[in-house]
Amino acid sequence: TSNQMWGGRFASGPAAVMEAINASIGFDRKLYSQDIRGSLAHSEMLAEKGIISAEDQSRIAHGLNTILREIEEGTFTFSTRLEDIHMNVEARLAELIGPAAGRLHTARSRNDQVAVDFRLWVKEELVSTAEGLKRLIAAFLDRAEEHAATVMPGFTHLQSAQPVTFGHHCMAYVEMFARDLSRVRDAVERLDESPLGAAALAGTGFPIDRQATARALGFREPTRNSIDSVSDRDFALEFLAVASICATHLSRLAEEIVIWSTPQFGFVRLSDSFSTGSSIMPQKKNPDAAELVRAKTGRVNGHLVGLLTVMKGLPLAYSKDMQEDKEAVFDAAEALDLMIAAMTGMVSDMTVNADAMKRAAGSGYSTATDLADWLVRVLGLPFREAHHVTGRAVAMAEAKKTGLEKLSLEDLQTLHSGITEDVYSVLSVRNSVSSRTSFGGTAPSQVRRQTRYWRKRLAKA
Ligand code: ARG
Repeated sequence: TSNQMWGGRFASGPAAVMEAINASIGFDRKLYSQDIRGSLAHSEMLAEKGIISAEDQSRIAHGLNTILREIEEGTFTFSTRLEDIHMNVEARLAELIGPAAGRLHTARSRNDQVAVDFRLWVKEELVSTAEGLKRLIAAFLDRAEEHAATVMPGFTHLQSAQPVTFGHHCMAYVEMFARDLSRVRDAVERLDESPLGAAALAGTGFPIDRQATARALGFREPTRNSIDSVSDRDFALEFLAVASICATHLSRLAEEIVIWSTPQFGFVRLSDSFSTGSSIMPQKKNPDAAELVRAKTGRVNGHLVGLLTVMKGLPLAYSKDMQEDKEAVFDAAEALDLMIAAMTGMVSDMTVNADAMKRAAGSGYSTATDLADWLVRVLGLPFREAHHVTGRAVAMAEAKKTGLEKLSLEDLQTLHSGITEDVYSVLSVRNSVSSRTSFGGTAPSQVRRQTRYWRKRLAKA
């Protein structure tokens, strides 16, 4: 015939450029196993309901399993002329089993077929993303326990702010990635409905059993509206949104690793397995993996905006625009998996230079807030006045090119006569962090409390 797929209505085949713009087989072949699983479940249900014969069903199942094997062994020939994975599989099925193949598409359309395939794929991806995130969180928990008492500068505006512990900083990422993990799980909850049986958009007159196919495919239940089932891609958008937020977290960590591993900071040293050298400068050890995590965030975030833009303004139900959903999701998923794995490796392998962190923690008058707090606590000054006195102490130290803890008692007493020797106890960075025992604060005791909490919570998750 003039057209392999719908020759009845068409006198001529597509123009070459039509074929090129229309075909999705180049990327949607990734959905082959989901497509075949969907077809197996559909054909079993059709036979169960007496819509096709048991003999035809067994031919179909046999043929589909052969195709699965052919694709996995690399002997299957994908054809651009057949547009997409669905038509490629169906055409091969016809070659293998003859006319019975034509019964598979009863009570089904490519519209619900692609929706079910893609949901299955995204669901599986989310499940594996969750596993990756759990490994990343575990890597951070190890580092946090190890460095619960390691003092480092905490920053605001990337200026030294107050001393914190490295363990506490690690636990900040645990909180972020744990929220990402919960977003991943929420996304699974919402997409866990089978669109199969929505057919083109209106449902079907055949007595199909949508509960059965939903169950067979591992979905919680069937979708409740056939138009919505083939119209929306919010599950793909949600995947991209979750991925973008997670990637954005990863990129901040990446940036910190880039900064920390500069010789100027020297807070961490990346392992050889997670850094690269320079082809010209022998001294270099570059944080390429961290930089690429930072950069790939651009792709992931871009895919979210890209697909949002594809979907906006689309009338219900299916439009071919929606075929553009897949590359965005596939590429974002591939990037995110790599990013999470590379970060897990970097975090577990990097060497932490506690001395450099401690040295830096003491610079930049990082205990100024502790001095102000002491003036409030011990001398009963209002905080605003204490802030002012401390500001003058910082100016004095700056003029003398020294640290707050190096100012003499006489000098300090010129700022406020009530100051005593006791003040020096809060000017050390170690005492500063140990004193921050408020719930969720940076004191080592609090850090340990939070690592215990997450160990327990993740063991249950
Ligand atoms: N390849 C198509 C897609 O990805 C499958 C659905 C085609 N349906 C249609 N009515 N043309 O969306």
